Amino acid sequence: MKVSILTMMPDLFGSFLNGPVLQRAVRKGALSVEIIDIREYAPGSFRHIDDSPFGGGAGMVMRCQPVLDALRACRKLNGSAGPGDPGSRTVILSPAGTPYTQQKARSYAKLDHLILICGHYEGMDARIYPHADEQVSIGDYVLTGGELAAQVITDSVARLLPGSLRDASTEEESFENGLLEYPQYTQPAVYEGAAVPEVLRSGDHEKIRRWRLQQSLLLTRRVRPDLFARHVLTDEERRLLEEADAGGDGTGP
Ligand code: ADE
Repeated sequence: MKVSILTMMPDLFGSFLNGPVLQRAVRKGALSVEIIDIREYAPGSFRHIDDSPFGGGAGMVMRCQPVLDALRACRKLNGSAGPGDPGSRTVILSPAGTPYTQQKARSYAKLDHLILICGHYEGMDARIYPHADEQVSIGDYVLTGGELAAQVITDSVARLLPGSLRDASTEEESFENGLLEYPQYTQPAVYEGAAVPEVLRSGDHEKIRRWRLQQSLLLTRRVRPDLFARHVLTDEERRLLEEADAGGDGTGP
């Protein structure tokens, strides 16, 4: 797939593009990333991409013309159509967008072309938004611009592409089944008095699976009650939780 990032701060992407997961996806031919400098689409010696808002107020607003000319050029170059095109999606990064989730990452990873537009200043001229499919936020806080959000999205999509990760399985990760991931341990078996749970050293795969599922459930219920409330418990999960609440550790018969 191709990810095109429209930005007025192209320099912010240098080291990001050279990171190991992205580079691996690029080498495998699963991903290409292009950075488009919106300023190159602003005519005149000052290359103005912002202006003061109609109606007054503080701050500057990104102008329609450079953003939309950059977007049109990007679509033309990549053979993508506008909003509603099934193979491509245009996303404006904004704190006012819908929340970014692992589910969205999965859906973006199926596209041929993802266009990310980084907002800046106090916002964008409202006439730009209808040219995109959606606005997306990576969290309830305000960044200086959409560049970090574009990197978060590109990273989370790239690692889902075939061949990106050395260990191919992303299915047991946090969020993939609506739960947080269970705790992991490696050598040594005892470190400064803290021991690895006995069940993980038992070699009994079924016991280990049950223990991990139980830990995922307990962790999610404790730290992400919002996720837990949305999760529909299977019969086995309900049993594992009841067992934990009664003092068991998921390794019983
Ligand atoms: N731009 C500024 N803040 C943002 C956020 N939280 N998510 C996406 N884009 C942003």
